Amino acid sequence: MTTSAITAARRTGAVLFDSVTKSYGTVRAVDGLTFALHPGETVALLGPNGAGKSTTLDLLLGLRPADSGTVEVFGTTPREAVVAGRIGAMLQSGGLMEDVTVRELVELACALHPRPYPVDQVLTRAGLAQIAGRKVNKLSGGQEQRVRFALATAGDSDLIVLDEPTTGMDVTSRQDFWATMREQAAAGRTVLFATHYLEEADAIADRVLVLHRGRLLADGTAAEIKAKAGARKVSFDLDTAVDEAALRALPAVGSLEISGRTVRLRSHDADATVHALYATGLYPHNLEVAGLGLEQAFVALTQAEEARTA
Ligand SMILES: Nc1ncnc2c1ncn2[C@@H]1O[C@H](COP(=O)(O)OP(=O)(O)OP(=O)(O)O)[C@@H](O)[C@H]1O
Ligand SMILES: [Mg+2]
Repeated sequence: MTTSAITAARRTGAVLFDSVTKSYGTVRAVDGLTFALHPGETVALLGPNGAGKSTTLDLLLGLRPADSGTVEVFGTTPREAVVAGRIGAMLQSGGLMEDVTVRELVELACALHPRPYPVDQVLTRAGLAQIAGRKVNKLSGGQEQRVRFALATAGDSDLIVLDEPTTGMDVTSRQDFWATMREQAAAGRTVLFATHYLEEADAIADRVLVLHRGRLLADGTAAEIKAKAGARKVSFDLDTAVDEAALRALPAVGSLEISGRTVRLRSHDADATVHALYATGLYPHNLEVAGLGLEQAFVALTQAEEARTA
């Protein structure tokens, strides 16, 4: 980001990370991270295990101090934003209070929020109305996740931060969860969520941040991330015997897979590959050229970075 973009984000942004670094001993979990989130955006935070997602969210919530750099939330420190009830959060770890019922825990979260919603509304929205009387330590994993979600949405917060919110939820719970989050986003809230479910990021996020070893590897819409990964899938059938060496010699070809007379390859310049294919005198049938899915793009980007930094 440029200096003027950082100044603008400081004035109007929801979240600003400016050159933020955080180490645990010798492990640099967050390494010079700079990004801004705009109010009303829904942003997915992706990255392999250990990339620094949870640490980033902890810094954003003021749960840990940064070693250097600044974190601002709506122009204030994270702590001030939390105290003012501007952030609702759902963390990846951390136990829930044990010997209380679901309703009691939600009541407590509502009581602590400066602008709480009615307890019954929070319970219903999180799909907890039927099990409100149950002890928190008797819940299944997916039910616990719903309780965490209820705690994150106990009041009218401007920013909702979610660390792997749907892990352990069944399909219906996940769908209900994201329908609720879409309502929250439509009401103008900023939503930042870490996830390993790339289809969720693809379907829900306006923008995707890819972290790798504490650094920002990519920042853009899902379509931009796919384009950045560069590769296209090219597949076709041949009516003559397949000459593997000739196919490998085509320009821009990455991986190559042959099964009978069907060829599937990856190309970082599909136009060049296909033109050269015709020029060699081969006649492909059923030619298909397709972009990568977000999941494949993510794998391609992170593997390329691994190879570059190895
Ligand atoms: N409390 C801690 N003490 C020491 N090291 C830590 C601590 N928390 C995280 N780390 C290390 O910091 C790095 C980043 O961890 P972090 O939890 O932020 O990753 P993550 O992207 O959330 O991973 P995951 O997808 O597995 O949740 C990892 O190498 C991790 O081992
Ligand atoms: Mg994590």
